[in-house]
Amino acid sequence: MAVLGIVGSPRKNKRTDKLVEAALEGVRSAGMAAHKIYLVDYDIRPYCGRGGSEEAFTLGPRDLSRLCGEAEAIVLGAPVYWGDINGLTKDFMDTVQTPDSNGKPALGIAIAGGSGKGLLSGVQSIYHFFYHRQMRGIDPTPVSRFNMQEALEGLKVSGQRLAEAARNRQPFPGESREERWPEVLAHYATLDYLDDGPLEEFLMLAEQLLELSANGRGKADENEVDRARIEFDEALEALEAGHLEDAARHAVRCYQILFF
Ligand SMILES: Cc1cc2nc3c(=O)[nH]c(=O)nc-3n(C[C@H](O)[C@H](O)[C@H](O)COP(=O)(O)O)c2cc1C
Repeated sequence: MAVLGIVGSPRKNKRTDKLVEAALEGVRSAGMAAHKIYLVDYDIRPYCGRGGSEEAFTLGPRDLSRLCGEAEAIVLGAPVYWGDINGLTKDFMDTVQTPDSNGKPALGIAIAGGSGKGLLSGVQSIYHFFYHRQMRGIDPTPVSRFNMQEALEGLKVSGQRLAEAARNRQPFPGESREERWPEVLAHYATLDYLDDGPLEEFLMLAEQLLELSANGRGKADENEVDRARIEFDEALEALEAGHLEDAARHAVRCYQILFF
């Protein structure tokens, strides 16, 4: 029994790698073996064919498809480039075959290590892949520079949960892919972050920056933190009242005051 950790960043030993490793540490602490690979070590090419997904499957490195098929569960980590996962990870998703994927537990991590923008849209892309392959996604994990510490800790717990889910694998019921969609969709409707948009993303980043300031890990002075907190509260109030444009303006202002 082994969990496969997949690092989608071309940079080894950087943030994506560390986050995937934290999840695998959790897997191992739950008594399950784990194995890590780097997409950059494989010959992954963009699909430029004229057929459909079956043709695309012929392009993915066979070793990768075999590893994904054999894995009891998958951890997939990707860096965010321009608001979405990087091309290498997307090319992997487009061309890899995932035999025996029905209900396979899967954990996805997206790290937006610059401005933080794209941490939600990035993680959503990973879960779209899990969903379309009818894997059983758990614990979507959006990460920025501002919640990296917390994410590393949280991923150890998610890794344990993933190992547990692999031991008690629950395939979605149904004889065919089509028959399984109601239960697949029902499962994905319960996951965090998958319905969020750019406004929720800015609110999340603003909250992370406020939390850093409260813990003495921010760069803003007391005055700035007070101003940012007022902006944040106003954003929440506007959101509550359904004034989305105002909520957006206040959320961005809060973020901009605290950003470093
Ligand atoms: C082409 C490119 C585009 C990027 N776009 C974003 C972005 O939209 N949002 C963000 O927060 N960081 C962005 N970054 C920063 C990366 O997310 C950051 O460097 C991250 O740590 C990369 O993961 P790694 O350290 O595992 O390589 C970008 C980096 C590159 C190279």
